[in-house]
Amino acid sequence: MDVFEAIKGRRSIRRFTTDPVDDAKIEAILEAGRWAPSWANTQCWRFVVVRDPEIRSQLAKTLYSIKLPDREVPNPAAPAFDTAPVVIVVCAETGKAGAEHGAPGKYATDKGDWFMFDTALAVENMVLAAHALGLGTVIIGAFDAPKTEQILNVPQGFRAVAMFPVGVPAREGKAPPRKELSELVIRDRW
Ligand SMILES: Cc1cc2nc3c(=O)[nH]c(=O)nc-3n(C[C@H](O)[C@H](O)[C@H](O)COP(=O)(O)O)c2cc1C
Repeated sequence: MDVFEAIKGRRSIRRFTTDPVDDAKIEAILEAGRWAPSWANTQCWRFVVVRDPEIRSQLAKTLYSIKLPDREVPNPAAPAFDTAPVVIVVCAETGKAGAEHGAPGKYATDKGDWFMFDTALAVENMVLAAHALGLGTVIIGAFDAPKTEQILNVPQGFRAVAMFPVGVPAREGKAPPRKELSELVIRDRW
């Protein structure tokens, strides 16, 4: 699949069939994550691949509901956990991305730790790869990270950043509109 086709065609998929996803496809997705760029090639990311149904159902319980101005609704990604056979939890070692060379914890820029940025690059690679393989994903950020770290035994010095279920889409996703480039692009000077 052409890269532009993958970027434009990928959708957040929140409903999956019960069809299995084989290990070769999961390995291909992880491989795409492994080749993401990162701060000074520090590769702070770690990928926890969860197939165990009991652990998947514990992860489902970490999802935060969404607070709208007038009410609270369940996280729209929750139904994915009923059927998706795999959940990948993307964790990151802190203190590495953005650090001055050879000085972990001492940061080179005013932005401090770049772990969220670097893991996002790996996540995007992986969700695009999944889409190119005919699989669906939804990136989930609204979850209780400390609880997730406890469930997965994430060691100190690492954070759970995002998770995404992987499975065979039960239906096509609908594309939410995007801002026009005219709203997004500044030429030469803001
Ligand atoms: C950092 C991040 C966190 C997200 N968290 C959630 C989430 O908790 N639940 C959910 O249903 N979707 C979540 N999404 C998916 C977005 O809602 C979705 O990407 C956006 O609406 C655009 O739709 P598309 O992915 O189909 O293009 C998240 C996406 C990102 C990038």
